[in-house]
This record gives sequence, C-alpha cells and structure tokens, in this order.
Amino acid sequence: MDTKILQITPDVHWIGVLDKDIRTFDIVMETKYGATYNSYFINADKKAVVEVVKEKFFPVFETKLRQLCAPEEIEYIFINHTEPDHSGGLKKLLAIAPKAVVVASNSAIMNLKEQLNAPFQYITTSDGLITDLGNKKITAICAPNLHWPDSIYSYLQEDKVLFTCDSFGAHFCHEEMYNDKVGNYDDAFQYYFDVILKPFSKFFLKAIEKISPLQIETICTGHGPLLRENPLKIVEKTKYLCEDYIKNYPEKNRILIAFVSAYGFTKTIAEKLKEGAEKVPGITVDFCDIEKMDMDTLGDKIAKADAYLLGSPTINQNMLPQLYNVFALMTPLRDRGKLAAAFGDYGWTGDAKQHLISNMDNMKLKRYSESMFVKFIPSKTEEEKIIQFGESFAKTLTTNNLTRGHTPLLTNH
Ligand code: FEO
Repeated sequence: MDTKILQITPDVHWIGVLDKDIRTFDIVMETKYGATYNSYFINADKKAVVEVVKEKFFPVFETKLRQLCAPEEIEYIFINHTEPDHSGGLKKLLAIAPKAVVVASNSAIMNLKEQLNAPFQYITTSDGLITDLGNKKITAICAPNLHWPDSIYSYLQEDKVLFTCDSFGAHFCHEEMYNDKVGNYDDAFQYYFDVILKPFSKFFLKAIEKISPLQIETICTGHGPLLRENPLKIVEKTKYLCEDYIKNYPEKNRILIAFVSAYGFTKTIAEKLKEGAEKVPGITVDFCDIEKMDMDTLGDKIAKADAYLLGSPTINQNMLPQLYNVFALMTPLRDRGKLAAAFGDYGWTGDAKQHLISNMDNMKLKRYSESMFVKFIPSKTEEEKIIQFGESFAKTLTTNNLTRGHTPLLTNH
C-alpha cells in the first residue's frame, strides 16, 4: 500500500492518494496520466483535514492520516467542494473522527446532508469567515462554480498555503507530486482547464481577483501537482486562459447549423437555411454535418454559437443519436436563452421535430416560433421558403439583440 506523505510546510502534510490506473474520469474525461485525490492534514492546536478522497481510496488515506495523528483528535474537516472525488470518504472519516466539525459553504452543507444521510456537526462558512485553529487560522474565500456552486478556497495564512480543490488542478498522477519535480504536464493542465473549468471562466477571474492580495507560497490543489514553484505563474496562466475564452465566447451572431442526413434531404434543407441566414449582414454560420464529429469538437461549437439550427431526419419515429449528443453537450445554465429552431426531413411520421423541440425546451433555449420540416425532397418552392426561413431566423437573432442574451459561462460536467 502506498503510504507516502509529503510535508509541505512544517505543519501542513499531503495525505492524498494516487489513482494511477484511472483512464476515464466522471464518465466523460480521459485521464491518460491517471489522477490524484489530494487531501491535507494541518497540525495546528486544533487538528484539521482539508478535503477527503474518493471513497474507495479511504483505507490508503486513513493509513496516512494515522501516521500523523489519532483521528479522534481531529476537530475540523474543511470541505471545499462536495463532488464525491473529494467528499466521498467523508462519512468514513467522520466515523473515526467523531469530534470533527465539517466546515463548508451553505450549498456544500446541503449537498453533504444528502450524501451522508446522517447527522453531523457543521459550520456554514462564507466569504472572509475565519475558522480558528488556535495557533493558526483558516479564511474562507467563496469561489462559486469552480467547479460546482458550492466551491470555496481555504487560506491558511500562517503557512501562506491556499487550498483550491479543483481550481489550478490537473489529472496528472506522479509520485513526486510537486510541480517542480513532476516534469512538464502542460497538456494535462490545459485539458483539465478546458473540460472542467473553462466554462466558468468569469467565475474563475473573480476568484483570482479575490486571492490576488494574499501572500501565497503554495497552492494545494485537489488534483495533480502541488504548486510550490512559482504558484502565481499558474494563476497568471489561468487568468490569461479565462480572459482568452471570454473574449471569444460566444462569437457574436454565430449560428450553428448542426445536422445529420440519411439521403441528403436534410442536408439540402441545411444548405438552404445557410443561404438564407447568410443574407443577413453580420451573421456567421458554422455549417456542420455532425454524423462523425467527435464530442470535443461538437462541444466547442455548441459553446461558441449563440443560436442553433438543429436538423435531423426521422428514423424509426426518432431523431438521430448525434442530435441527442448535441443536447447532452448543452447546459441550460450556459446556453439558456439562445435562439433555436428545428429542421429536417419529415420521413414517414416526422417525430424528430417533436424530439428536437422537447429537448430545446428542456435546455431552456429560446425556441423560434416555427420549425422547418419537409416531406422527402424539397421542391423549388419549398427551397425558397427554407431560404426565407433561414433569413428570418438570422434577422430575429440580430434585430432582437438576442446575441449574448443568455446567461453565459455556467456549466456542470
Ligand atoms: Fe474534483 Fe469537481 O471535483
């Protein structure tokens, strides 16, 4: 069993675990370098733990913890975020640390009540509140949506250590753990940012602004390397990535026309919609047959667009699976209010239309008043109507100033 502990400062120890073999995280994330679940022990007058670990790794975590203290002595457990890769082991920790009081944000406490399903002692913390550990103090810094609404950072001022959970982390498993010892992991850092945190860039910038006055010598992340060498360089890099994302998101008046087509009829409709939409000055069309498009590319296009024309033929009374993927990659928190319309080939029953519409409503898109469905091959007259439809859709986008009318930058994974 891996029992390695790292002493970060005289009183702060890493007691996290390595998950070398994991290759997919949260179903959707590739973890080709494995992952770590970082947890920390603070040896203050009042002993504390920051974050726990995934439940299945609790025995390793417990072994490490017992090398440093008797769990019954623990008085505080700081939970900065309640996704179970961090909070999963909490129930077991509380069983061996019965005195411990959980410190977390209000929404984190609500989540924990549902996760633990048992009474526990807690303090609801909020921005600037200090938890007194006797000879040390921990300040809470609200950092919502990084990456759940419950997220906070914890700052141990005496040791100049900032605990940030998902923020500034990466899925990168290396036994040496320190960022100056693990080699270059830029691609893992970038991938983690892109998939987990990028959609929350606005929130990330606010959090970075809040931590800017702090003296920080080490950033103790929830995943991957511990940032002791030039941690502020990582903060600056993150700031740049967030600003860059916001600058390009979403692209103004950009319509994503995403479709699949069995015999080319739906594709013809898509082409005519494009023709119509492009008559409107200032409109950009991203025209995509998504039959073979990978999920990362599709997700990026969905995020960048601020209106959608989504097309599917009806096959077996259903729309095609690729269109389900489109909705799977949307989130109402980010995409709510974006203008959307359905189109496609009617087939025998035309059920794709209702499936598209229902999913648009579920995603809280602003549904255009009409859809555009055609039985089999569009006639010349129908083609003209489709062109007019595309033009009218694009005009609605521009003249009603719907661009950026949605609430951007909130997603969940
Ligand atoms: Fe590492 Fe959002 O949990």
